[in-house]
Amino acid sequence: RRLAIRTTHKQKQKNITIAIDGLSSTGKSTLARQLAEALGYIYVDSGAMYRAITWVALKEGLIGDGFFHKAQLIELLPSLELKFIKKPEWIKAHMFVNDVDVEHEIRKLEVSRFVSSVAKLPEVRTKLVQLQQQMGKSKGVVMDGRDIGTVVFPDAELKIFMTASPEVRAKRRYAELLEADKSVDFQEVLDNLNERDKMDSTRNNSPLIKALDAIEIDNSEMDLETQFQLALFHAKKRIEKSNKN
Ligand code: CDP
Repeated sequence: RRLAIRTTHKQKQKNITIAIDGLSSTGKSTLARQLAEALGYIYVDSGAMYRAITWVALKEGLIGDGFFHKAQLIELLPSLELKFIKKPEWIKAHMFVNDVDVEHEIRKLEVSRFVSSVAKLPEVRTKLVQLQQQMGKSKGVVMDGRDIGTVVFPDAELKIFMTASPEVRAKRRYAELLEADKSVDFQEVLDNLNERDKMDSTRNNSPLIKALDAIEIDNSEMDLETQFQLALFHAKKRIEKSNKN
């Protein structure tokens, strides 16, 4: 009888945590979503959460060119409830703030222009990191961002760090933005990526750095399928290893 129990116990696959970090527009979210789907894991886009807070700051007139009323934004934080909701007719989960679907708005360049300033605030990071850790506490999660492998889940079994040349990244993001807004300017997109990369990598609080144990993938010249297969190979290896232990 004991043996039977042990066998059932053994058959239950242990889930792992997958952290994907990297510079802007390196295709983190595409890869994270593909991996989550293949493994039956939850996907969490941590950048969407920073974008959502930035959207609130813009809507409330707390941030703009040359000003940032930080104290007022910090005061608002406890009243903001962030949630991901997925309806069957949507291809991906949408970001909600206090029951408002902000998925479309948060992808706009206007939000990208201010998000790195908002993401620098320790109060914002504390709130979001807590929420992210809560979302991943049962493992079986793929999360992408800047500090997932270093701060949010330093014990993640698989960490991937994505890079690509600035031109390749700007071209990808430009094509994405062009779908929604024909007036988008390539130079503005490229400048925004460079600016955010600089701010994200040099801030004092949880800067973007490659975790020592992260696997680096440069996808400047890699197609989506190759990148996906490579990441899936690593994921399966880690899952197998953690099920042996
Ligand atoms: O999609 P993209 O790579 O351009 O950016 P994102 O993942 O949507 O993140 C937007 C911004 O949020 C970043 O430029 C960072 O300033 C901030 N962020 C962060 O500080 N920490 C994270 N874990 C995720 C995003």
